[in-house]
Amino acid sequence: MTETQGESTDPIAQAVAPGYVFDGAALELGGLMADATTLTDARIRIPIGMLNRHGLVAGATGTGKTKTLQLIAEQLSTNGVPVFAADIKGDLSGLATAGTPSDKLAARTKAVGQDWAAKSFPVEYFALGGVGNGVPIRVTVETFGATLLSRVLELNDTQESSLGLVFHYAKEAGLKLVDLTDLRAVLQHLTSPDGKADLTGLGGLSSATAGVILRELIAFSDEGADAFFGQTEFDSSEFLVVEPDGRGRISLLELPNVADRPAVFSTFLMWLLGDLFHKLPEVGDPDKPRLVFFFDEAHLLFDGASKDFLETITQTVRLIRSKGVGVFFISQSPTDIHEDVLGQLGSRIQHQLRANTPNDAKALKQTVDTYPTSVYVDLGQVIQTLGIGEAIVTVMNERGAPTPVAWTRLRAPESLMGAADQATIDGVVKGSPLFAKYGAAVDPVDSAADILGARVSQAKVAAEAAPKEHAAAKKATHPAEPQSAADQAMDMATKLAKNKNVQREAMKVGKKLLRNLFK
Ligand SMILES: Nc1ncnc2c1ncn2[C@@H]1O[C@H](COP(=O)(O)OP(=O)(O)O)[C@@H](O)[C@H]1O
Ligand SMILES: [Mg+2]
Repeated sequence: MTETQGESTDPIAQAVAPGYVFDGAALELGGLMADATTLTDARIRIPIGMLNRHGLVAGATGTGKTKTLQLIAEQLSTNGVPVFAADIKGDLSGLATAGTPSDKLAARTKAVGQDWAAKSFPVEYFALGGVGNGVPIRVTVETFGATLLSRVLELNDTQESSLGLVFHYAKEAGLKLVDLTDLRAVLQHLTSPDGKADLTGLGGLSSATAGVILRELIAFSDEGADAFFGQTEFDSSEFLVVEPDGRGRISLLELPNVADRPAVFSTFLMWLLGDLFHKLPEVGDPDKPRLVFFFDEAHLLFDGASKDFLETITQTVRLIRSKGVGVFFISQSPTDIHEDVLGQLGSRIQHQLRANTPNDAKALKQTVDTYPTSVYVDLGQVIQTLGIGEAIVTVMNERGAPTPVAWTRLRAPESLMGAADQATIDGVVKGSPLFAKYGAAVDPVDSAADILGARVSQAKVAAEAAPKEHAAAKKATHPAEPQSAADQAMDMATKLAKNKNVQREAMKVGKKLLRNLFK
């Protein structure tokens, strides 16, 4: 693969090519261009061992970002590295289908030294909470945590710390927060007359704030968010699979209507990344990453991010490297990415940027300023005139230094460019063992809403069963203090029953608990 490296007589190739000769395995990005019409025989690549130093793929719409992501994902898989990518527009779903050859494509690939052959790759399709096509990914409220939930609920700092107290209270009280109903039940309890003592005991949580959070939660549920929370909780190590044929699994998370609720999706992606971080052992700098995570539409992650959330992102990106996970951000402009994160991205693939507005021009200038010195006289000019599927590349070499800036014509993906047909996706999803494992939502019977509701139903059971001395009913009341528990529950039930929502909730969980007791 390195056959022609450094043989060119072109002065640009002579200056740039030696910077792309590596000892270890590398991904082939494409051919080096001397100018808009001259393709040299030098090859531009990224050392696989440096992919945990993260990367950026940027450029205006339609300039080739997704295809770049696709061809990187293909080569990672081939090299036994699993890939996760958020597939915002379904563009990547074609990875499971072999590409379509054409004369035009052949001309392009031959020129950049690619021995193109149509190939399909091992893909699993996922969907948040089963909204869309894919194996549903769900998470419990407890695991998701107060910080991320605050972000999706768009809480302010005070409300965020209050929500933290609510989580703390639930934990101390042994109230499991599985789905949103559980969290609502806890908040309803704390804002009820009965929960007043608990609320006061928490200190720092006002019932007004608890009420605001409760309203936000209800609105969140109304948007359909219930589907994302619950069990069976997704195990992010499903992404780390190397298939029996030695190829890395490509996990695609379909995110339909992302623009409607950017915070929800970006926050879920952060949760997945954080979850991986907590699960994986330290590996330092391995020969190749254990996973490469592609964050498409990355600006959604930073738009309106709180200080805490931003810190979470920055920390996760900084620390996950030593766990062998590489993260690539994909966005229109590098200026979309917060500078604390941008500074940590070792590889940069910059597609065309436009400078139509003063803001664009500013972003372009800022972008150019972040590059090392280059052999191109006017890098800003080059970035504006890049063709589709061309990019300005600089990567981190094996010594950790940036490679020379290289105007690169990229290779072409070997799988289908564009969305797979629906039947193919359905076939993969329904045939996946993961679908059997995660397909159905499981509602546990001992979570917070059930426990809080149980007091209500215990009272009912006691009241109904007492005259009949029903044997099974005895099981439902605590043997040591049947009277007081029932009294307490009845008292609480009366108070709670004044609240319509609680009533409905209590009825539901009460029924469920009864069903369970007598089965
Ligand atoms: N590396 C490439 N090889 C072949 N065609 C490409 C390549 N990159 C981009 N293209 C062409 O440009 C179109 C737009 O690319 P795409 O990656 O979808 O852009 P973006 O994600 O930046 O909006 C593709 O549909 C394809 O026809
Ligand atoms: Mg795209």
